Amino acid sequence: MSKEIISFEASKQWLARALERIPTGSQTFSKSYLQYPVGHAPLFLDRGQGGRVWDIDGNEFVDLVAGLLPVTLGYRDPDVDNAIKAQLEKGISFSLATRLELELAERLAEIVPCAEMSRFGKAGSDATSAAVRLARAATRRDRIVICGYHGWHDWYVGSTVRSLGVPEAVRGLSHRISYGDIDAFRVVLKAHPGEIAGIIMEPMNSAEPPVGYLADMRDLAHAHGALFIFDEIITGFRYALGGAQELFGVTPDLAAFGKGMGNGMPISALVGKAEVMHLLDEVFFSGTFGGEALSLAAAIAVIDKMRREPVIEHLYSFGRRLNAQLAGLLRQHDLDETIFLKGQPCWTILVIADHAAATKEEIKTFIVTRLARNGVLSNVTHNICYAHNEQDLNDCVSAYQNVLTELGDHVRSGPGRLGAMLGCDPVAPVFSLRSHSR
Ligand SMILES: Cc1ncc(COP(=O)(O)O)c(C=O)c1O
Repeated sequence: MSKEIISFEASKQWLARALERIPTGSQTFSKSYLQYPVGHAPLFLDRGQGGRVWDIDGNEFVDLVAGLLPVTLGYRDPDVDNAIKAQLEKGISFSLATRLELELAERLAEIVPCAEMSRFGKAGSDATSAAVRLARAATRRDRIVICGYHGWHDWYVGSTVRSLGVPEAVRGLSHRISYGDIDAFRVVLKAHPGEIAGIIMEPMNSAEPPVGYLADMRDLAHAHGALFIFDEIITGFRYALGGAQELFGVTPDLAAFGKGMGNGMPISALVGKAEVMHLLDEVFFSGTFGGEALSLAAAIAVIDKMRREPVIEHLYSFGRRLNAQLAGLLRQHDLDETIFLKGQPCWTILVIADHAAATKEEIKTFIVTRLARNGVLSNVTHNICYAHNEQDLNDCVSAYQNVLTELGDHVRSGPGRLGAMLGCDPVAPVFSLRSHSR
């Protein structure tokens, strides 16, 4: 069993201090008090090991967030950490390229269907933004179609409700469409003939791709002279070693990888067909840290381990078992018409609907805060890592058992009861982007 939660007092105190020096008290909206209510969940972590983390109050959690999905293998994975240490003995950032860059690019070419050539960055946003610039350069067109979440840069975030600071002229060039809706893509293509540089999309998140959808989207893009780009920042090194393009058998022109490729080290990759990638000889995607060696060494170690050991299989099998247990509990507590398990087992999203007795935000906040009290760190997703083990599974299931029993009782007591029991304001979404269709 997870140890008993002591309190979240130290997190609360550090947040008060942090807010004086750091806007939002965090570098990431989704890791901040905006998503984890103060005093009801941890806000600062101290360390991790395997599939678990410890906060600054000394509380221990099974971590179902996994750093927002970069931690694919687990915290302090010995193979990755040893590769980093070995490279550290040689140096971190150099004055010229290192052989590691080619060693990684060659591995990517072997495992990712579209990765004839690669370039590296640090954040996922580097790779998605480079993909968009490259598509614009390759087609000499300005407009871009987007489908999913793609990072913090102007071209993308200007299309969301958090567009403050993005020039109107830039916003006007991005066209958002919903996942699964090929007609929406047709409408944009028709409205802007000869102007669409490409479509960048998450190949899947919560909703399954309708039959033939991804291939049809690719064909439609190509028929209009636009590039077809997968954002595999999450699906890469998770859905399959070669990403969603391997799993679904649809090869894009370009793809962006990040998150899981370094098991927590900051590294991303823009990969793609050589004929397009060669344009990067001219297109400016160039930075001081693109060849930073610790992250390259980590990514090579991740790939080698994933090839050697049944990592991807474990992400699926652990996720499947957790989901099966959770689905049973949801039925048992009459919550299966309120909470739906969506996505692939390796990355499952709990899609929450409004209930007659409580809003979806109240239900989400209840789950996040009560799971935390029961020793599970969650943002209502299951971000599985290779280190998650039987004990972690059992602890997650017993935490869910407690939380859903309580949740079921509260919502059965009628409207208002759950809200009153929360003890904090319900968390609002950072923005609602993913097509959480039921
Ligand atoms: C699908 C997807 N694309 C792009 C990004 C941006 O990556 P980063 O936050 O590393 O810039 C994210 C981050 O959550 C993501 O989930």
